[in-house]
Amino acid sequence: MQYAAVKDVLAGQYSAGETVTVRGWVRTRRDSKAGISFVNVHDGSCFDAIQAVVPSDLDNYSSEVQKLTTGCSVAVTGTVAASAGQGQDFELQASSVHVYGWVEDPDTYPMAPKRHSMEYLREFAHLRPRTNVAGAVTRVRHCLAQAVHRFFHQHGYYWISTPIITTSDAEGAGELFRVSTLDMQNLPKDDKGQVDYSQDFFGKEAFLTVSGQLNVEAFASSLSKVYTFGPTFRAENSNTSRHLAEFWMIEPEVAFADLNDVAKLAEDMLKFVFKAVLDERADDMAFFAERIDKQAISRLQHVIDNDFVHMDYTDAIEVLQNCGKQFDYPVAWGVDLQSEHERYLAEEHVGAPVILKNYPRDIKAFYMRQNDDGKTVAAMDVLAPGIGEIIGGSAREERLDLLDKRLREMDLPAEEYSWYRDLRRYGSVPHAGFGLGFERLVAYVTGMTNIRDVIPYPRSPKNADF
Ligand code: 4AD
Repeated sequence: MQYAAVKDVLAGQYSAGETVTVRGWVRTRRDSKAGISFVNVHDGSCFDAIQAVVPSDLDNYSSEVQKLTTGCSVAVTGTVAASAGQGQDFELQASSVHVYGWVEDPDTYPMAPKRHSMEYLREFAHLRPRTNVAGAVTRVRHCLAQAVHRFFHQHGYYWISTPIITTSDAEGAGELFRVSTLDMQNLPKDDKGQVDYSQDFFGKEAFLTVSGQLNVEAFASSLSKVYTFGPTFRAENSNTSRHLAEFWMIEPEVAFADLNDVAKLAEDMLKFVFKAVLDERADDMAFFAERIDKQAISRLQHVIDNDFVHMDYTDAIEVLQNCGKQFDYPVAWGVDLQSEHERYLAEEHVGAPVILKNYPRDIKAFYMRQNDDGKTVAAMDVLAPGIGEIIGGSAREERLDLLDKRLREMDLPAEEYSWYRDLRRYGSVPHAGFGLGFERLVAYVTGMTNIRDVIPYPRSPKNADF
């Protein structure tokens, strides 16, 4: 038995006349009056299904082949033949069809072959991988992840696995999920009536990480160019189309780099991964351009072909104030930009991703490097049309006295950050990095409008099923 992936047969890797067996799931079946059936089988190896032409003289033709419905799992053995059908060069002339599994009650099969809404599909996170859209998202997501690793590897970065369980709040924003083995019904209390976490598994309060940055900074302080790529968790109660409670983040950290260096790194990385997806997933991208977002391909090509626009936060505020548009949230120097502002800047003002830099100190995290003006920090966000912020980054405060001052001002306990402070005490160097939200990247690339549809199992407020 020569097993073949659908993509290889369709790509012409087998010669006409060769016998192969394809295993997968039925996408559609059509019976012709002439007594043959056309069974389209997909196996996830590419967007397209292969057409198997099944003659009526097979033993199980009427008992099984003619009963095949969408979702049945099969092995089709046949000879590869040039196809007269539109849109494909090869098909299989079947000599046997083996059915692995039937679809019970096809009329109530939740993934019946019709267009389902994204909301409906979310209710079936375990079955939606069978749909064209989820298959395409999955392959593009994989391609992007591989391209990210390839980019950093080729540029001399080491991948650091940072911890998922931690006792530090890397962003100092308090959006933490607690990890505990204490008995919730019977929590141990100290003299002041507070929960006594010294009796907990780790001997103190522990959380799921919100970012690997602080840990990866320690490795940048020795290996120079590093990155982390892993899951991160935020207990922010944001029920929006761009927030998840569990998302993946790519965080490079570069010793001896400043803000402009990492802005350039972000631009180079995005161009690299966009090019990879256009080269390697042309089939899926064509589907997104046809069914989800007409600009899916041209938008990426535009980014690849043009330099990123840089803009200072202060100038962006002026643009927003003078653009004549009514925003729900008022704009003034010092405010944190809302999604409507970010979208305006990227979509309408620039028409492409834009890098905003030098934000007011008071709206940013404690670790960001202070600029000489005393008001702003060397922070950047990359804003993308249709989605808003996809990257947040900064130069890090490498001067211990200024870091300590910031911790005090923000009421953050210096002792909790003592190991982080050590990096400034022993051979401190200027350094910078950023975090790219992986699902926001996948959403931007595919044109999918809800971030919950670009991660296999989305986690959001009141939703951790499957
Ligand atoms: O801007 P953020 O909070 O930055 C950090 O966590 C830094 N420690 C990164 C660094 O400098 N190493 O988050 C970075 C990115 C955002 O731009 C966004 O793309 C994504 O992470 N992100 C989310 N994605 C999905 N759901 C959420 N709730 C997200 N919060 C942030």
